[in-house]
Amino acid sequence: MLYTTTQEHEAFRKKVREFAEKEVKPIAFELDQNNEFPDEVVKKMGELGIMGIPYPKEYGGAGLDVISYAIAVEELSRVDGGVGVILSAHTSLGTYPIAAFGTEEQKKKYLVPLAKGEKIGAFGLTESEAGSDAGGTETTAELDGDYYILNGGKIFITNAGKADTYIVFAVTTPGIGTKGISAFIVEKGWEGFSFGDHYDKLGIRSSQTCELIFNNVKVPKENLLGKEGQGFRIAMATLDGGRIGIASQALGIAQGAYESALAYSKQRVQFGKPIAFQQAIQFKFADMATKLRSARLLVYSAADLKEAHADYSMEAAMAKKYASDIALEVCNDALQIYGGSGYLKGMDVERFYRDAKITTIYEGTNEIMRVVIASHIIGRPPK
Ligand code: CAA
Repeated sequence: MLYTTTQEHEAFRKKVREFAEKEVKPIAFELDQNNEFPDEVVKKMGELGIMGIPYPKEYGGAGLDVISYAIAVEELSRVDGGVGVILSAHTSLGTYPIAAFGTEEQKKKYLVPLAKGEKIGAFGLTESEAGSDAGGTETTAELDGDYYILNGGKIFITNAGKADTYIVFAVTTPGIGTKGISAFIVEKGWEGFSFGDHYDKLGIRSSQTCELIFNNVKVPKENLLGKEGQGFRIAMATLDGGRIGIASQALGIAQGAYESALAYSKQRVQFGKPIAFQQAIQFKFADMATKLRSARLLVYSAADLKEAHADYSMEAAMAKKYASDIALEVCNDALQIYGGSGYLKGMDVERFYRDAKITTIYEGTNEIMRVVIASHIIGRPPK
């Protein structure tokens, strides 16, 4: 137990770990190979009560804290990073904006089924010309009577196609930069809203990622989230929390690779003894364990700050940057310990190695994480 976790946290970890070991681990290789979204597993995650961990019970959530949520993403990712990000994108990105910025009606209509796991959520911010520069959004939403008419598209959207509701960012007032962007709740099935093909990705292949295409989609006025022009701030505030989710995912992937290599090193004999007793291998484990411990403390402390409603934007960026950087290092070392065997399809370290890479890229590249951290340390340049 770490000093930041309680016995309740560890009991919750045990519950999610048992679920992940029983329901996800046996099919993780197959999901990866088939590029397949685990519909049944996600349904069971709802039944287990982990699709709305940090949201109040009155809105269908579990009423637990942000550390519990981080633990759940970590434990799922320890066996399958794709399943970890399904939960993270649903909870942090697809559900949080409604919980934090929604009206009472929006919460009743959308938050409750999302938090109960009856519906899946997604978040549409990234566009082909607006990646790291999220303020460059070109999708438009033009008010026409009681509706906003949505036109444009989004790329690289996690849970796309499988999700029922989408938080979509679009320009309502052109020419004034980020202050002209608004956020909307958009439902799957609305006329003019379609999806591109499911991308064929290097890793996290059990998660589904597609384009969103909007062609004159009529979004009722009451589905505006927050106020007009508040969208960019909603996106940034949401991503602060999302980065805790991705940091937890990276941590879980690294933990899974570490444990796998540790078990292997105890039974693989070379030069007359298990390789775990060779100093070259021992030093790798010492470094891996230290990195994992450091990352875990950063992730839980960012989660703790969010739970306390303190500023946590910088800490979330630090946790995401560090956990994802060390996830690549730990997975690399784990595969190295396996040697040639680890390079083969069907070996979990081979999958963890591929899954880890995305964590340095999405929900803000690690270069953008440094921009965010530096902006908190140094402030913004004088105008
Ligand atoms: N919370 C609230 N408001 C914030 C904020 C935050 N964390 N960060 C910035 N803002 C506000 C600023 O205060 C500013 O408000 P004012 O204009 O009133 O002063 C406004 O937002 C604009 O801020 P900046 O001038 O700093 O904005 P910028 O255009 O320079 O961009 C950036 C800043 C940090 C680079 C931002 O664009 C960014 O985070 N880029 C990365 C985008 C990203 O993470 N995309 C991930 C997509 S989702 C995904 O990947 C999901 C998935 O697949 C799982």
